[in-house]
Amino acid sequence: MATPDTKQTAKLTLPNGKEATLPVITGTEDEHAVDISKLRGETGYITLDSGYMNTGSTQSAITYLDGEEGILRYRGYAIEELAEHSDFVEVSYLLINGKLPTKEERQKFSTMLTRHSLIHEDMHQFFAGYPPTSHPMAVISAMVTSLSAYYPDSLERNSSVDLHITRILSKVRTIAAFAYKKSIGQPLMYPKNSLKYCANFLHMMFAVPSEDYQVSPVLEKALNQLLILHADHEQNCSTSTVRMVGSSGANLYASIAGGILALWGPLHGGANQAVIEMLEEIKLSGGDYKKFIDDVKNKRDNRRLMGFGHRVYKNYDPRAKILKKMCDEVLAHLGVEDPLLDVAKGMEEIALKDDYFISKKLYPNVDFYSGIIYRAMGIPTNMFTVMFALGRLPGWIAHWKEMVESPDTKIGRPRQIYTGEKLRKYVPIDNR
Ligand code: CMC
Repeated sequence: MATPDTKQTAKLTLPNGKEATLPVITGTEDEHAVDISKLRGETGYITLDSGYMNTGSTQSAITYLDGEEGILRYRGYAIEELAEHSDFVEVSYLLINGKLPTKEERQKFSTMLTRHSLIHEDMHQFFAGYPPTSHPMAVISAMVTSLSAYYPDSLERNSSVDLHITRILSKVRTIAAFAYKKSIGQPLMYPKNSLKYCANFLHMMFAVPSEDYQVSPVLEKALNQLLILHADHEQNCSTSTVRMVGSSGANLYASIAGGILALWGPLHGGANQAVIEMLEEIKLSGGDYKKFIDDVKNKRDNRRLMGFGHRVYKNYDPRAKILKKMCDEVLAHLGVEDPLLDVAKGMEEIALKDDYFISKKLYPNVDFYSGIIYRAMGIPTNMFTVMFALGRLPGWIAHWKEMVESPDTKIGRPRQIYTGEKLRKYVPIDNR
């Protein structure tokens, strides 16, 4: 934890004549914060910051992000290096434990993930209870909450956190694949212990009992990279939700389920699905993406260019850069020619030269190209946000763990400025 800088303070003079001297906190990358934790007690004022545009909710040692420079690092390692050289299991270990594993640690972690991949047989029946048209995010969030019913010791404060972490990391992958299989009426494929994490997921998604299935190394590598790129992104909407839910003392499964639900929205993880739907709509209506861009600029029907813009990045999202290259490579390897890719590239080219997007610093984000890769891999559109959730799991877990282990954690409870009616007298119903 960074301690207040004793040499620097900020002064705030308030209309009631009170003056607050506020400590300044400086992070390891020289980011500065004004610590207002004693402001209300000392002055009676609170701060108001809709959407938390300027508000830091915590100190964290997990992920560093510089939106102006387009930098993203997990535990100090550049995202570009991790995507190139690491795999998802190692990155999960790194995020959760704060360091790269030794060979033995890596082996133990992988074995644990392999051993905990099955879900309780009774849970299989849950899938049958949902209509086949259910959105998989609805199914998966409910299943993750249900895991806490199967591991009731997770409700106890002193239960083995490491075991629950392994369980959730391994089982959400199985649940995601099972939800897909159920939705298309195919038999559930059990995990195979001889396969690594991502290969096992592809096996559970695409194998059928009646024939052999060979996992393509190119798809396995692509999936590892996709999940690494999504693995953490500091205090975004879903991660903040995980922290908020967990701050009440709710168990890991409940906290992660909260994160999954927050991710679902189209402004957050749901954007990858929304991008493909947008591209398909443009293609279906004749492919005139210039007109679509004009509609976006004129805010017609509140249209947005999905997959563009980010609260923090005011530069090209470094993840999008990697994904754009990867998109070309994966499609070329699979021999897939996706007309949506041409539409996407055409839109990007126009947008990056257009004053509307330049002036608002809107660049492609992680969701702009990821959907096209998932499509080429055979993953259906309504599963894209599930893929994001699978990737974001280690980040959510790392933040939950950091929060519960920090002695400074308090229950998340923002304040408000009340703008409703002043005290008024109750009127009996006959007199209204
Ligand atoms: N297309 C067109 N205009 C946009 C877009 C967009 N994608 N994004 C922002 N703007 C405009 C917006 O209309 C506003 O204009 P004005 O100043 O005239 O009112 C201005 O840019 C600022 O937008 P904002 O909504 O106040 O910015 P924000 O930081 O609150 O929103 C965002 C960030 C990601 C929600 C937004 O950029 C957006 O809706 N993007 C599309 C959805 C999307 O791709 N989401 C995935 C984000 S990456 C995955 C993740 O980490 O969640």
